[in-house]
Amino acid sequence: MIFRIVALTFFVISCSHQHHGENASNQHMHQKSYRELISSFDDPRRDNWQKPEMVLGLIGPLAGKRVIDIGAGSGYFSKYFLNSGAEVVAADVDDKFLEHLKKSFPPEKFPDVTFKKIFFDDPKMGKDSYDYAFTSNTYHHIDHRDEYLKKVYEGLKVGGEFVVLDFKPGVKSSFRPGPPDKMRVPITTVIKEMLEAGFDHLRIYDRNLEHQYLVIGKKL
Ligand SMILES: C[S@@+](CC[C@H](N)C(=O)[O-])C[C@H]1O[C@@H](n2cnc3c(N)ncnc32)[C@H](O)[C@@H]1O
Repeated sequence: MIFRIVALTFFVISCSHQHHGENASNQHMHQKSYRELISSFDDPRRDNWQKPEMVLGLIGPLAGKRVIDIGAGSGYFSKYFLNSGAEVVAADVDDKFLEHLKKSFPPEKFPDVTFKKIFFDDPKMGKDSYDYAFTSNTYHHIDHRDEYLKKVYEGLKVGGEFVVLDFKPGVKSSFRPGPPDKMRVPITTVIKEMLEAGFDHLRIYDRNLEHQYLVIGKKL
């Protein structure tokens, strides 16, 4: 009986430290406090390896386009999209990041952004609603991607694109941003999963960034 009570208490405590539906990558990320995470996402030195202008150049012109930033975090890329004239939905599963996003993008300064609480297994994009669905460093946080990608596909307009920017496994470098290799998704997996979900005309950039790849697939 005592054993059962101890086991039950342990189970309740460990569940209360998890966000419902999160995977190992989320648990790894949440070893750091929100303050540490936000300051690392927004570290000005990130621009040196992230090369946001180059990423935006590869995506294409965004003025007037409707973009959902899935797993927006601190809004690092949302800010660049807004500055390019896009209408941005900054979406996250996490209330604390959403609170931070709302504070960072006040409506009087950023009339073209809205905020959306999404689910771990559903980006809640509706149907034929977006020109771009963008994920930066978030693809590896998503489980059951076969089902998830179908929802992204459905939520894009015809001609809309899904953009996956994430960390390459196996990078040999003394400075190495991003999660451990075992949590990274190889580019070949991203390509396979995109094709299986129905995306076409894939644009694949494996060499442009040292630490990351960019894969962009179109809904025809
Ligand atoms: C490593 S952070 C990246 C944040 C931001 N995109 C960036 O590049 O700075 C991963 C983000 O994805 C969010 N996230 C985790 N699981 C998710 C899921 N299943 N669907 C959407 N977002 C998720 C987290 O809350 C977090 O904001």
